[in-house]
Amino acid sequence: MATLRGDVGGLELENPVMLAAGILGTTGASLRRAALAGAGAVVTKSIGIEPRDGHPGPGIVHLGVGLLNAMGLPNPSYREFQEEIDIGRTGGSPVVASIFGSSPEEFVEVAGGLDADAFELNLSCPHAQGYGAEIGCHPGDVEEITRAVVREKSVPVWVKLTPNVADIVALGLSAERGGATAVVAINTIKAMAIDVESGYPILGNRVGGLSGPAIKPVAVRCVYDLHSALSIPVIGVGGISCWQDAVEMIMAGASGVQVGSALSGGLDILKSISNGISRYLDRKGMALADLSGLAGRQR
Ligand code: FUM
Repeated sequence: MATLRGDVGGLELENPVMLAAGILGTTGASLRRAALAGAGAVVTKSIGIEPRDGHPGPGIVHLGVGLLNAMGLPNPSYREFQEEIDIGRTGGSPVVASIFGSSPEEFVEVAGGLDADAFELNLSCPHAQGYGAEIGCHPGDVEEITRAVVREKSVPVWVKLTPNVADIVALGLSAERGGATAVVAINTIKAMAIDVESGYPILGNRVGGLSGPAIKPVAVRCVYDLHSALSIPVIGVGGISCWQDAVEMIMAGASGVQVGSALSGGLDILKSISNGISRYLDRKGMALADLSGLAGRQR
């Protein structure tokens, strides 16, 4: 079968199919399980300075078109998380620490306190006051925070971007100017659902982020636009649930993909996606590098 081994965002991976942030990334045991199930790399739940309980529940609702969530960045603080990363690493795949903060100083403190194979800066959570997209929608802040973390760490720094803006490319270019190794697109789309019997919003936080199949075309478009404009790699995430989705994202310009909501059907999806990509490459007589950005080269 065609090899999928290669560089994704500064990490040498066995395959480009990764566990996305926020799904199964809260404990070392679950990171390890995802790695052993075939993830080329695993991304942790987003970690911040202080322990947070997150938003009041319900925090997740299954809609027909995908998942709506507003967990509210619950995490035990970076001071309590290194052991989980170390356990996660025993799965044999690189562990990427997703981190958040409200300022460059907070990002630097969290990154400085963790030893991980790479960092993914969460500048895109759409429903946490003072964090995520509230900062990450400002190109100047994206550049400043990225630069601060890049100065602090000698491992790859990825920036996860929000699609909840008119111009995601401006954010990607800011991350690139700040020295990011790669950008990750996209985080969830700000959304809500209302219970029609009671009239109440279903999520405890009222507003959350939509993931799953409904957002894949948005993610594909964002990856395509970013790949066309940036010199650094783009990692695609958003609604990938089968190998065809992954191939489409790679054709849009992704050099790797992350899988999130689809894991609610089990971890086997990780291997099924990477095996599907390999078989597709064999059938087409192509290498992975030929596939990346193919859509932008077609006339
Ligand atoms: O609620 C959450 O913890 C989600 C984070 C995110 O969307 O980045």
